[in-house]
Amino acid sequence: MDSLIKLFFLILLISSLIFGKINGVEISSLNHHHHRHLSGPKKLFVFGDSYADTGNIKKPHAVSWRVPYGITFPGKPSGRFSDGRVSTDFLARLLGIKTPFAYLWKDYVGKERLRYGMNFAYGGTGVFNTKSTSPNMTIQINLFEQLLGDIYSQSDLSFSLALVSVAGNDYSNYLALNRSIAALPIFIKQVVDQTELNLRRIHVLGVKKIAIPSLQPLGCLPLYTSSQGCNETYNALVNYHNSLLEQVVAKLNNETNHSTFAIIDFYNAFLTVFKNKGENPESKMFETPLKPCCEGSCGNVDEKDANKYTLCDDPESAFFWDGLHPTQQGWESIYSVLGKALSASLLKL
Ligand SMILES: *[C@@H]1O[C@H](CO)[C@@H](O)[C@H](O)[C@H]1NC(C)=O
Ligand SMILES: *[C@@H]1O[C@H](CO)[C@@H](O)[C@H](O)[C@H]1NC(C)=O
Ligand SMILES: *[C@@H]1O[C@H](CO)[C@@H](O)[C@H](O)[C@H]1NC(C)=O
Ligand SMILES: *[C@@H]1O[C@H](CO)[C@@H](O)[C@H](O)[C@H]1NC(C)=O
Ligand SMILES: *[C@@H]1O[C@H](CO)[C@@H](O)[C@H](O)[C@H]1NC(C)=O
Repeated sequence: MDSLIKLFFLILLISSLIFGKINGVEISSLNHHHHRHLSGPKKLFVFGDSYADTGNIKKPHAVSWRVPYGITFPGKPSGRFSDGRVSTDFLARLLGIKTPFAYLWKDYVGKERLRYGMNFAYGGTGVFNTKSTSPNMTIQINLFEQLLGDIYSQSDLSFSLALVSVAGNDYSNYLALNRSIAALPIFIKQVVDQTELNLRRIHVLGVKKIAIPSLQPLGCLPLYTSSQGCNETYNALVNYHNSLLEQVVAKLNNETNHSTFAIIDFYNAFLTVFKNKGENPESKMFETPLKPCCEGSCGNVDEKDANKYTLCDDPESAFFWDGLHPTQQGWESIYSVLGKALSASLLKL
């Protein structure tokens, strides 16, 4: 029985490969007006969580594989936690390459298709264990290490960028366990110290450039906002995390004598987009930036198959898709605000 089910899924997978619908990874429409940067990174390796995952969680074990996720792009659920493209897609566009494949699919596509790097990011993960089945950053880096010398050579890595994108699951996990907010600063230090070890390890493995987003203002995620707006208690803790992260990156860059490590300033980019009243033409103006498009239990239905969520008319008008994740338009605005400064720091190897 079990092998029958496996066979069924294999056939499903193969047919989706043949019909080119896999994960919507063929995103040439997003890239066609961007040229390849000849001197910049040629491959992108991604470690992280749902902000960066492009389909590493097996179907159907996550809402990212359920309607209405993916309605904007590729038109159906693709394993991305958004209505469309996510952070990884926009970073690949900035490099002028296609979105790297999700690790889960690596054995089903030809080696040639792995030339843009690989995505190990897995929704729900942190630097420490969060949910039992989710591979933390250490495990994701282990998976990457296992591919070296086989799929990727040392010289590949010297023309590569790594994105290390952890957006706060360690902290939501901490809060879900009802641990004290007063003791959170101690835990924040542990998270950043472990992040430092992860960054060192990726560098020692040979990756030439490593980008680390600062933590976005968690207090402004719809899940944590109230009628008063953003929760400033949470944002103050995020600022502490980000200041420790900056110190770590400065230290690492000093040791390597190169600008190997670069912070992608999500914190300020998110706030800039929220506050934009037209003075930032790069970003769209969102009328109610803290109100998600998909409200309620997004992607879930009750026993009678009725939606446990409501959807806005136009996902492009919303910054947030659900309680935690930006829409494709939200990500587009973030990367537009980061713009040239980000390109300058990442495209120079
Ligand atoms: C990552 O997960 C593995 C397997 O559960 C565990 O052994 C390891 O201690 C975890 N790493 C960290 C830093 O928590
Ligand atoms: C945390 O507290 C909430 C509310 O008091 C309770 O429902 C929940 O079960 C607690 N969680 C844990 C892991 O103790
Ligand atoms: C912010 O979150 C904390 C911790 O959950 C809570 O005690 C506080 O009431 C919240 N503040 C606002 C303004 O919602
Ligand atoms: C780098 O570290 C060394 C040794 O700790 C220190 O003397 C130097 O000032 C640092 N350089 C920068 C640019 O921070
Ligand atoms: C960094 O530069 C210093 C002085 O220019 C040199 O002594 C040191 O070996 C360099 N370190 C690396 C890792 O290149």
